[in-house]
Amino acid sequence: MATQTIEQRDRKRKPAREAKADAIAKARAIAPSVAARIGSTPATRYRGDPGIFGRLVEDHDRHRALLAMIEETEGKSADRQALFTALVREVKAHAAADEQALWSTVLRNPETTEEARHAVAEHKELDDMLADLAARDMASSGWLRRFAGLKEEYLHHVGEEEQEQFVAAEKILSPGDIRYMRRVFNRRKKEEKAAAKVEKKISHKD
Ligand SMILES: [Fe+2]
Ligand SMILES: [Fe+2]
Repeated sequence: MATQTIEQRDRKRKPAREAKADAIAKARAIAPSVAARIGSTPATRYRGDPGIFGRLVEDHDRHRALLAMIEETEGKSADRQALFTALVREVKAHAAADEQALWSTVLRNPETTEEARHAVAEHKELDDMLADLAARDMASSGWLRRFAGLKEEYLHHVGEEEQEQFVAAEKILSPGDIRYMRRVFNRRKKEEKAAAKVEKKISHKD
């Protein structure tokens, strides 16, 4: 009976505005005094959706909030450090779980191999950019400039996922796959997040 209740709850759609507010609240819990001005986000019909795509957009909004909050912080402040560590662990765990739950299947289908390859290649670029930022002095004048570069790259990546790659992936998946993948994602993300470490490696020269 309990399983059925969870199943039923899983299938319920959340209003988009509420889904976005809930995701932002998770980011704000890290540093409650820092404003999270994420502004308008490109419209997507997946926000609030009970399947894997809605779950991924929820994380994207949470990450959009973390990115906006970091830009409000200064130097080597405790808030900046806490938010940046949270962002790195979140993004790494999200990307890994996303690859395991969704892209591996999408990659196997010849119709969507390119889409999946594109998304996964950008995960590697983002990972390198995060390690580069982690290796640099947060209090230096160049840090925020480099961080702005990461933010731009990240927003481009998730915007493209929501507008293009999810749309293509949805076409080759059944409603059952889409529900099941959400559960796989949640389980994998939890494990990935517990193991995620902030790596430090300079790789970007300019
Ligand atoms: Fe991604
Ligand atoms: Fe994503």
